[in-house]
Parts: sequence; C-alpha cells; structure tokens
Amino acid sequence: MPSAPLPKRNLGNMIFSEEEVEIEAIRLQNVIKQPMRWDIETCKVIAPLTLEINRLKKEKDVFLIAHSYQTPDIIYGVADSVADSYALSKEARDAPQQTILFSSVRFMAETAKIVSPHKTIIHPSPDAGCSLSESISAEDVKALKERYPDVPVVCYINTSASVKAECDVCVTSSNYLKICERLPGDKLIFVPDKFMGAHLQNELSGKKEVIVFDGECEVHAYFTGEKIRKWKREMHSQGMNLMVLSHPECDSEVLEESDIIGSSEILKDEALRLSSEGESNIMLITECGTADRVIAESDNDLNLVGACIMCPHMKKTHLEDILQALRNPDPRQIIEIDQNTILRANKSLDEMFRLAE
Ligand code: 13P
Ligand code: SF4
Repeated sequence: MPSAPLPKRNLGNMIFSEEEVEIEAIRLQNVIKQPMRWDIETCKVIAPLTLEINRLKKEKDVFLIAHSYQTPDIIYGVADSVADSYALSKEARDAPQQTILFSSVRFMAETAKIVSPHKTIIHPSPDAGCSLSESISAEDVKALKERYPDVPVVCYINTSASVKAECDVCVTSSNYLKICERLPGDKLIFVPDKFMGAHLQNELSGKKEVIVFDGECEVHAYFTGEKIRKWKREMHSQGMNLMVLSHPECDSEVLEESDIIGSSEILKDEALRLSSEGESNIMLITECGTADRVIAESDNDLNLVGACIMCPHMKKTHLEDILQALRNPDPRQIIEIDQNTILRANKSLDEMFRLAE
C-alpha cells in the first residue's frame, strides 16, 4: 500500500516536506562538521531557511557571496562563493549574474558595487560596519594629502567608498606588502590600520618611509604577544610544537611571534596544509570564522589552540536576513553610491588589481 504523503512544513511562504528538511539537515551537519554546536536538531530548524534561500537564488539568478567570517550555516548552507576580501571583490566584478547578495560587512558590499556599478548589490545588514572602516573619513585623507603633497596614498580595502575615492591604490591583507613594494617613490601614506602600517614600516625599512594613520580593528587588537608566548611555553613544556598563524591586522608583537601572516583565506589554506603535513597544534590569531572553516574543510586531526574572537559586525547577518533581503529587499539593503565616487574609487581598485597580479 503506498504510504501517505509526507506532512509539509510551512514557514511563512516556505513549504518543504519532512523528508526534504531531514535530508538538508543531514547535509548541513555533515558539511559544518561541528556536531556539538550544530547538532541535528539545530540543523533541522535552519534547513527550511537554507532550502528556501537556495531555491530563491536559482529563481532570481542571484550570486550569493559570503566573507570567511560569516557563520557556518551561511558559508556551507547557502553561499556560492566564500573567500577573503580580495578574492571576493574579483568574484563580484567577474560574476555573470546581474544581482549579487553580499553577506558581510558594508565596506565589502560597497566594494562590489564600485567594481560592478551596473549590477544590483544586495547587502542584508545595512548596519554591519567595521571599526577600521569607521576610523577614517574622506576629510582625514584630504588633510593627509595636504600635509604630504605628492606622496601616494594607499588605503586598506576596509574603508568607505568616499575614502577609496581619495586614495591612489587600494590593498587587502593578501597583497599589501607586494603592492606597497611595487609603488614608485620612497614614501607612502598608509591608511587606516596602524598595525598593518607598522608591519609595512618594518618590512620596508631602509627602502621606503611609511606614514601611518591610527585606526585599528577591534577584533584583532585584542590579541597580545604575551598570550601567544604563554601558550607556546605551555605546549613546549608538554613536548609539543605550536604553529601560530596571524592576520596582519594584529600588532607587531603578535606578528613577531607568528609563523605565518596572511589574509583570512591564506590562514585557512595554510592551517589545512600544516595539518595535512602532521602539524596538529595550530593557533589561529584571527576572527572565529577562520577556525570554523578549517574545522569544516580539514580531513586531519586538529587541535586548535587558544580562543578566537567574534567580529560583532560580521556576525550581524543571519539566514533570516538573507531570506528577507532576497524576497523583498528594503531600499537600505541595496547599495547605492554616487557615480562620481564610484568612478574615483574604482581607479584605486583597478590599480590594486593591476599591481596585485
Ligand atoms: P581578509 O581580506 O583577510 O578576509 O580581511 C578582511 C577583514 O575584515 C579582516 O578582519
Ligand atoms: Fe572590521 Fe575587524 Fe570586523 Fe574585519 S574583523 S570587519 S577589520 S572589525
């Protein structure tokens, strides 16, 4: 006798069978690979959301990109592409889809609009800012340019569109050293991250003078060299090695204690490489999203040492926000930037793409 039709689960306009939800929940649990935090019951609750978001993406031909620091349900549940800020700005520029939903903080969604002005960029969390981006205004850059005329201004990608419009070249955590080295002249202004700026001063010492602004990332500023040294001593006393991988938004003392310095994507890739080579004790000095990705993508035994820090801005976006923005975006969720700012900011991003390759 044929079995009775499966009961439908109805969440707003979403109707999925129990079986579809069950299959999706198992998929989510298997890809996230954190069965304690993301247990099957939790995955069953979010499964209707990921199913509906994935259905709507197809129906509306939307490309959903997410930064590495988004939560695992977004990264492994609904994102079409996940990476660091450099790779994602290229993806936004090159994607054939005319609508991009950018799950991240505001400056990244603005960057997507600058590099592809004809596309619609949906940003589900208009209030998701960034302490670095907010540390500097276009007026601050103009004042620096007046004080140091003819000195090229390099701005970190974690800046607003109007700040980018005042700069000569943009950089990210994956290319700031290379680009600053390649710039002509023996002086440059670097804004706004004082720690990345200090790293540049060290690396370019004797070759270039680097004038630095005083912004900082509230997440990476939390880490200290002393905390790393303490962990190293503890691990060494037990006869174990510890590999320390840090984001360049950390201070000089942290970077001096680090074996590898790189962007969120580089740190994830390097942690996976090290663990595949038998280095199982790894300390990730960055936002928690990188650890979530390493756990999800590693096939080896891993001991992630120490504590990560969550970025409150990056964690503002939830699946519910993405679903609402996909269904019916509020005008505040569509990135709009005036044409003149786009044109001027795009020059500094184009220059970055040119010098980074
Ligand atoms: P990445 O380019 O390394 O992903 O960095 C972006 C960011 O905001 C780090 O805090
Ligand atoms: Fe900004 Fe720091 Fe958050 Fe990155 S981690 S978005 S730099 S506040």
